[in-house]
Amino acid sequence: MKRVLITGASSGIGRQLALDYQADGWQVTACGRDETRLAELAAANIETLTFDSRVLADCQRAADTAGELDLLILNAGSCEYIDDAQHFDSLLFARVMETNLVATGHALAAFLPRLRRGGRLALVSSSVTWLALPRAEAYGASKAALDYLAASLRVDLASRDIHVSLVKPGFVATPLTARNDFPMPALLTPEQASYAIRHGLARGQHTVAFPRRLVWGLRLLGALPTGWWLRLSRFLTRPKDVSA
Ligand SMILES: NC(=O)c1ccc[n+]([C@@H]2O[C@H](COP(=O)([O-])OP(=O)(O)OC[C@H]3O[C@@H](n4cnc5c(N)ncnc54)[C@H](OP(=O)(O)O)[C@@H]3O)[C@@H](O)[C@H]2O)c1
Repeated sequence: MKRVLITGASSGIGRQLALDYQADGWQVTACGRDETRLAELAAANIETLTFDSRVLADCQRAADTAGELDLLILNAGSCEYIDDAQHFDSLLFARVMETNLVATGHALAAFLPRLRRGGRLALVSSSVTWLALPRAEAYGASKAALDYLAASLRVDLASRDIHVSLVKPGFVATPLTARNDFPMPALLTPEQASYAIRHGLARGQHTVAFPRRLVWGLRLLGALPTGWWLRLSRFLTRPKDVSA
């Protein structure tokens, strides 16, 4: 039986992936911090590990109990927006970078040795990196760093026969996006996101980006000359502090 370990599996996309991989016949280890929500997965016979991925020692303790893996999905993440770029909230910035980037490094240190030869590592980034969006300085920077991390790991791990995929979802209806106060085009359900991710990874895609119409829209806008996007973004977005 194939084994997958998923971080950030107590809610949203990760939770759905855990349920779906189990239904597909995989042995699943679902990770998170919220014991109550993880207990719901345990009740469905999914193995769970409770730890804060920002703490290296906790990641390593959890990894000690994990067996050999075929697939490692590092999905844990959070999103906070910079409300006023001129009065830059560096503590918010540090929080987001710690959860999305530094903690991914800790999870890599702890769990990568558990990945067998021929196995696959998937880092969950975001489609936000195709286009500079307002208030996304912290979230976008953390995800852009993951893009580079995945690309670099892919080169280094190829000789160990470990494959690396980068997952770049568009908008998915989860607790993370429930706080968004702007329209979310092409919003997907967690079930749709899980399907796209599982099938992309099964096909061995280097980059699993979805939904296609949003990705191409963002990439097209991202390819515009900077001045054009600056002008266009004034019509498409309404930053909070431009009410006067
Ligand atoms: N939803 C979207 O539209 C969207 C789009 C692009 C990318 N993504 C990415 O997809 C991933 C999953 O997001 P989601 O939408 O499913 O969000 P979510 O429902 O809020 O789930 C986030 C998960 O990350 C875990 N997590 C957060 N901080 C953690 C920490 N310090 N240690 C351990 N676990 C931690 C949470 O666990 P606990 O609650 O138990 O702490 C939770 O299971 C994130 O990386 C997100 O950036 C989401």
